Amino acid sequence: MAMRNSECGSSIILLSFFLIVLFSVQIEAKNQKEALDALYKAKFFKNSKAARGFSSQLLVNSESATTTTTTNNQNAENVEIYDQTGMKKQDKIVRLPGQPPNVRLSQYGGYVTVNKSAGRAFYYYFVEAPHNKKSLPLLLWLNGGPGCSSLAYGAMAELGPFRVRSDGKTLFQNKFSWNHAANVLFLESPTGVGFSYSNTTSDYNTNGDKSTAENNYAFLVNWLERFSEYKTRDFYIAGESYAGHYVPQLAHTILSHNKKAGKKIVNLKGIIIGNAVINDETDQIGMYDFFASHALIADRTAKDIRKYCNFTSDEAVQNRQCIDASNMVESNIGVIDIYNIYYPLCQNTTLTNVPKRASVLNYDPCTDYYTYAYLNRADVQKAMHANVTKLSYDWEPCSDVMQGWSDSASTVVPLLREFMASGLRVWVFSGDFDGRVPITSTKYSIDSMKLPVKKSWYPWFNANEVGGYAEVYEGELTLATVRGAGHEVPSYQPRRALSLIKHFLRGTPLPSSHRRTT
Ligand SMILES: *[C@@H]1O[C@H](CO)[C@@H](O)[C@H](O)[C@H]1NC(C)=O
Ligand SMILES: *[C@@H]1O[C@H](CO)[C@@H](O)[C@H](O)[C@H]1NC(C)=O
Ligand SMILES: *[C@@H]1O[C@H](CO)[C@@H](O)[C@H](O)[C@H]1NC(C)=O
Ligand SMILES: *[C@@H]1O[C@H](CO)[C@@H](O)[C@H](O)[C@H]1NC(C)=O
Ligand SMILES: *[C@@H]1O[C@H](CO)[C@@H](O)[C@H](O)[C@H]1NC(C)=O
Repeated sequence: MAMRNSECGSSIILLSFFLIVLFSVQIEAKNQKEALDALYKAKFFKNSKAARGFSSQLLVNSESATTTTTTNNQNAENVEIYDQTGMKKQDKIVRLPGQPPNVRLSQYGGYVTVNKSAGRAFYYYFVEAPHNKKSLPLLLWLNGGPGCSSLAYGAMAELGPFRVRSDGKTLFQNKFSWNHAANVLFLESPTGVGFSYSNTTSDYNTNGDKSTAENNYAFLVNWLERFSEYKTRDFYIAGESYAGHYVPQLAHTILSHNKKAGKKIVNLKGIIIGNAVINDETDQIGMYDFFASHALIADRTAKDIRKYCNFTSDEAVQNRQCIDASNMVESNIGVIDIYNIYYPLCQNTTLTNVPKRASVLNYDPCTDYYTYAYLNRADVQKAMHANVTKLSYDWEPCSDVMQGWSDSASTVVPLLREFMASGLRVWVFSGDFDGRVPITSTKYSIDSMKLPVKKSWYPWFNANEVGGYAEVYEGELTLATVRGAGHEVPSYQPRRALSLIKHFLRGTPLPSSHRRTT
């Protein structure tokens, strides 16, 4: 597997290669940046060399995608609920191989069929809170891509209870796990991501925003049938990156079904998205502005991008000057870790026989490699009840069997407005060292909503330091930064991330004064 940092090492040579065969980058995307980068190129650089061969596979149609995500209520009756008797018990994970001793938490893992006739099943990993699991809410976490796994990132590198050591077979505990705030459900979605599969081969080629929301909904109601004690529990959805689409689109689907049924089938209370793809035009411009304001590209290049590129529609055809400027950007940023522009690269991807000293407070940039080794172990898959059908391909952090993407909304802003009008809690956060979906993009996207400010930009505190900055808008939308965090916020700033999620789930504002908070 070719990953983030191995590419960075030889990226100049690889760059021209990428530009020519971008589609294969899409299907072999091994991290969230690549997958998202490929999607952006397919949307906005269709006519450049960069996207040649890609756009025909990726039939992005923003307009229809936007309408379908806001009017897909007709699917409300199509969800099938399957018998889940006895399955919760079977899914119980006694112990993960290499797990540290004396860890008190209950874990589950297994498959939920989302479409029986197609033979489509999604894999989940669920970790209950060690304390107060009966009163704490249920939180679903989704990673983005499209095509990246919530086990690879969310569970094993960000907010889960364990991280994999450098030997690829033992685990250490994450004391800032979000299980201190919620019962956390990680879902690998859609078809072809991680352990999630379908017996209908064509399902690997037909993923898109719309079908992902429908399948995620089918997963959720069937999962709640299996874990029926959670049916009436307060429910929240969180995610990052391209989950900026998945999270609101699933929330919208839930609201539609609730409305249609005239009752709360799912007790959704709010959503929280981080470094999230929200609104194409502002996301794009914000990204280039971030590059320039952080000295990664020349101001002149950012100016050229603004002047010559057209990000108002994915129907746009870019001119020569725009493509030249974007090639200049590629050559400037391709050599650093754009997920966290100040972080060191992974220098040695080889596993070690003796695990290196590890701490959650010091994120190891080679983590992806350790997780890859761990989750491909037969004993681990057996313990987790994963890969029960003996799939013909390996587990990857970002799918290389999922092909193309059929629809991608140009904006989820109308959905955020819908949630605010429905009284849901809506939080948007951003690790301010991320260059992929940076804080400037998020600021511009929120600005585009023209919301009245309720509490203007202020520093919030955690452990006697500024954890980040926040602004609260009328209608219960909070924008919060996490200082010093990259794209995967809890990987880089686990303590601040835990504080953020606690405040979100409790519905309390991020603390504006110096006082000890956890
Ligand atoms: C199952 O998926 C197929 C497409 O593969 C679709 O035609 C059918 O409507 C789906 N069934 C349900 C219950 O969603
Ligand atoms: C897929 O096919 C395998 C082998 O026939 C079967 O065991 C499995 O249950 C099927 N999956 C689903 C979700 O139907
Ligand atoms: C951008 O492209 C769209 C779609 O082709 C077009 O309608 C629009 O006029 C373009 N905008 C500018 C400023 O050229
Ligand atoms: C990479 O790490 C492995 C395992 O610790 C070691 O054997 C190897 O010498 C290292 N390679 C380099 C180039 O440092
Ligand atoms: C599933 O198991 C088979 C057989 O052990 C293995 O070759 C394959 O890599 C595994 N696939 C995944 C997705 O874990």
